Amino acid sequence: MKETNLVCTKCKKSFPIDQVYPRCDTCSEPLEVAKMSEGRINEGSIFNQTILERYADFFPFDKVDKDLSLGEGFTPLVNSAKLASELGIRGIWFKNESQNPTWSFKDRGTVAGIQHAITLGFRRIGTVSTGNMAVSVAAYGAKADLETFILVSTSIPTEKLNPIAVHKPILIKVDGNYGELYFESLQIGKQNDIYFINSDVPLRVEGSKTIAFEICEQMDFEVPDYVVVPTSSGGNIRGIAKGFEEFRACGLVRKVPKLICAQASGCSPIYNAYINQQETISRFENPHTVAHAIENPYPPSGNEVLRKLRGEGGIFVAVTDKEILHAERRLAEEGIFGQPAAAVPLAAVEELEKKNILSKNDTVVCIVTGGGLKYTAVLEKYGLKALNCKLEELSEIVAKRWN
Ligand SMILES: Cc1ncc(COP(=O)(O)O)c(C=O)c1O
Ligand SMILES: [Zn+2]
Repeated sequence: MKETNLVCTKCKKSFPIDQVYPRCDTCSEPLEVAKMSEGRINEGSIFNQTILERYADFFPFDKVDKDLSLGEGFTPLVNSAKLASELGIRGIWFKNESQNPTWSFKDRGTVAGIQHAITLGFRRIGTVSTGNMAVSVAAYGAKADLETFILVSTSIPTEKLNPIAVHKPILIKVDGNYGELYFESLQIGKQNDIYFINSDVPLRVEGSKTIAFEICEQMDFEVPDYVVVPTSSGGNIRGIAKGFEEFRACGLVRKVPKLICAQASGCSPIYNAYINQQETISRFENPHTVAHAIENPYPPSGNEVLRKLRGEGGIFVAVTDKEILHAERRLAEEGIFGQPAAAVPLAAVEELEKKNILSKNDTVVCIVTGGGLKYTAVLEKYGLKALNCKLEELSEIVAKRWN
């Protein structure tokens, strides 16, 4: 490992970079890798680089094992002139993270976490998740030939279970308080030499930085005014913010965008704490949203997201299930099929536009965090239709004017 350390996001206490336990022993808040203030992007083609190689200066590794990669990152940034004009803003782009190997942004943090685990000599990894992260860790664990523990709650539907099971991890359904499982797994990991790559552990947050790095490159280093991130544990938005900050510290961009933390109103503990002017988040009772992937009632990085965005003029938004489903369809009309959680940013932009918070000169990037094929049950709600006809009627039907 390079000479760097972990730092507590709240009290700034230092910890060694080879520490796996991701929280501060004094204030219990999440740790992060110390910010990089020197670095450059490696030259060469993204066709034969991994994200850990291209942005090696911004990771704490001395050496990167290319074989751990499944080709994560380098996802498209899709512009929509039509939506920008309808929303009355200068530009809107979608960072399409469904193009990752397991169809979500999680693969970036998983590869960084596994690189850290292997560098430190671990042969056992794990995670606690019901969806995207479970699939990601199971796939990368299989590729790296590691013993992989995936802990899920008993209520997980088969539609979500099988895509995890197919990679043959040690898949355990745990009956009990799902929120507590996050902290419990860290203790179990400590006792059993298992590196838990949970949602907001320092190296997963480092992986998410590459979303910001790529946006900078894709926009010729002119960052957008806003980046909208659907937020649950808070790990991804922390990483994206850190990525922009590090590029600015290294002189690669002149400013950082304002971050928008977008939550579902059926589970919005960070948004609620902001609105109620609280210093810390409170557990969200009876969470329920169609955006299951962001339904975490007590996000482990919630306090840090509050601290960070408050300090930097960030924005907090919550959107209803109806608005989320509407946004998922609107996004699909642009050719991008995201899952409900991934449509939350567009729903948030629509909300901010209604409230006149966005203006005609603004540019916005929405992070489409995961693909729609992961959750097809939701499509039943849309009443999607196909036409029916006999072969001899086909020519007449096609000849009609449809628009
Ligand atoms: C599709 C999708 N979007 C957003 C998130 C939220 O990310 P985070 O937990 O890092 O805030 C998740 C997390 O599971 C997710 O799966
Ligand atoms: Zn601390």
